[in-house]
Amino acid sequence: MNETGVDVYVVTGGAGGLGRALCARAANGGAHVVVVDIGESAVSVAEELTARGLSAEAASCDVSRREEIEALRARLTESRRVPTVVANLAGATRNAPLVDVTEEDFDLTLATHARGTLNMMWAFAPAMKERGYGRIVNTSSVAARGSPTGMSYVAAKGAIEAMTRTAAIELARHGITVNCVAPGGVDGGMFRMQPEKAQEQMLSRTPMRRVAEPDEIAVCYMFLASRGASFVTGQTLYACGGASIGAFL
Ligand SMILES: NC(=O)c1ccc[n+]([C@@H]2O[C@H](COP(=O)([O-])OP(=O)(O)OC[C@H]3O[C@@H](n4cnc5c(N)ncnc54)[C@H](O)[C@@H]3O)[C@@H](O)[C@H]2O)c1
Repeated sequence: MNETGVDVYVVTGGAGGLGRALCARAANGGAHVVVVDIGESAVSVAEELTARGLSAEAASCDVSRREEIEALRARLTESRRVPTVVANLAGATRNAPLVDVTEEDFDLTLATHARGTLNMMWAFAPAMKERGYGRIVNTSSVAARGSPTGMSYVAAKGAIEAMTRTAAIELARHGITVNCVAPGGVDGGMFRMQPEKAQEQMLSRTPMRRVAEPDEIAVCYMFLASRGASFVTGQTLYACGGASIGAFL
């Protein structure tokens, strides 16, 4: 709980396919939700929630830019909405196999996914330390274990898993847990932006032979963000219909 007795979730990429589902879950559970995304895309998500009598606000913020994150932190501190939960889902992906990858695409993917995650943890860990409580939930992907086409993306997700473990060690004695959710294919959002062949490949490597509904992934964030998950830190939870098992059925 924050000073006002309500959990405050800050969800980056909150206007995306998965982010929306998580914002809805958290708001339905009684939290105040700060929907963070680029441009004005977060506004409609926050409006949908408030129209249903839930507590939410939108924040336009590019997570790869530290000055924008600092402005978000100042705004939330001033309104006494320092987050109890930071969920990092934002990222823009430019994927290509090794021989085709460009430096520009690599830098963009790393800057939004990995540096964005770093920036958010950097910005909000100090206030969580002061309070002696916090939950940070980052986002990897089953692709982090190796992907036939995604050099930049796997680099970003591998970095996020490693940062999760390292931040968990640093913050553990302050009552802050840092964990990561690694989805497989999820309906809506990024998965459907891939070429059809890549989607088919993913399904053929998933023992459940289906993609997840966004809400099936949102519940994983909710668990890691809960007070009850107090002895779990530094972990990556693969929510991928068994794709991480490596069965290649
Ligand atoms: N959908 C899947 O199949 C899948 C699978 C594994 C992992 N993931 C991961 O889950 C997360 C959410 O995926 P999604 O499917 O909802 O994707 P999505 O593209 O629908 O959502 C990503 C959101 O991040 C926002 N964003 C991009 N760059 C940003 C920036 N610099 N600052 C702030 N916001 C920014 C986008 O505007 C978008 O709303 C991502 O980290 C993705 O890598 C998704």
